Amino acid sequence: MTLSSTTPRPLIAGNWKMNGLSTALEEARAVAAALEDEPAAARIAIFPPATLLHRLSQALENSPVLTGGQDCHDKASGAHTGDIAAEMIADAGGKLVICGHSERRCDHGETSEQVAGKAEAAAEAGLEPIVCVGEALATREAGDAVSFVVQQVRDSLPATLAGKAFSVAYEPLWAIGTGKTASVDNIVEMHAAIRGELRSIFGEAGKVVPILYGGSVKPDNAGEILAAAEVGGALVGGASLKAADFLAIIRAAQA
Ligand code: 13P
Repeated sequence: MTLSSTTPRPLIAGNWKMNGLSTALEEARAVAAALEDEPAAARIAIFPPATLLHRLSQALENSPVLTGGQDCHDKASGAHTGDIAAEMIADAGGKLVICGHSERRCDHGETSEQVAGKAEAAAEAGLEPIVCVGEALATREAGDAVSFVVQQVRDSLPATLAGKAFSVAYEPLWAIGTGKTASVDNIVEMHAAIRGELRSIFGEAGKVVPILYGGSVKPDNAGEILAAAEVGGALVGGASLKAADFLAIIRAAQA
């Protein structure tokens, strides 16, 4: 997949995390059915647990809703019990993959160097990686949020992504699942810093890499967040689990 030279449509991505049994497929079908009746300005993707990826991809085939994995290994295959290779995600119908979500970094000790390896493997398998970055509350309170996140961007994005389709998601840890969102001023400041780093790594192409915001995005704050400078979409957790809430966020995104 290659990067377009024009500004891409916003991406609204629903990360179901470790939520969803077979019955959850109905929520995704409801999203797709509503978008067929009234197409969205944004690109839409749902990231179910790995157990549902193949069935969800089949259920959403020929719909405007893409699917993706929540993580992939940096190796193409081998003795890595419980892990999933990028090519397996593609084989199950996924088009994208989240790399380096803070829950992976915290729960599994993933380093930015490992995240870069995963993003490289993802692109190699033809997937579009969404590379996540974000600071903890203590880092923000110490006044180091911008420098910390810029360093994460530098270390988590392999140079091999040049010319490929990928996104960065800024998800401050203190805003995830807490109901607290970063202020629009915080988001604008951080996204501008990330944009600067993307341009320094990728040159002209770095100008159009979408930068998503994630952290307690809900129907009632999505419009304001998505309209902010350099916000190229949203990575939505809890509010992506119910079709009505996810659709309201999708509708808040303008092309
Ligand atoms: P919430 O929207 O539940 O805060 O989760 C955000 C997130 O981590 C998405 O990846």
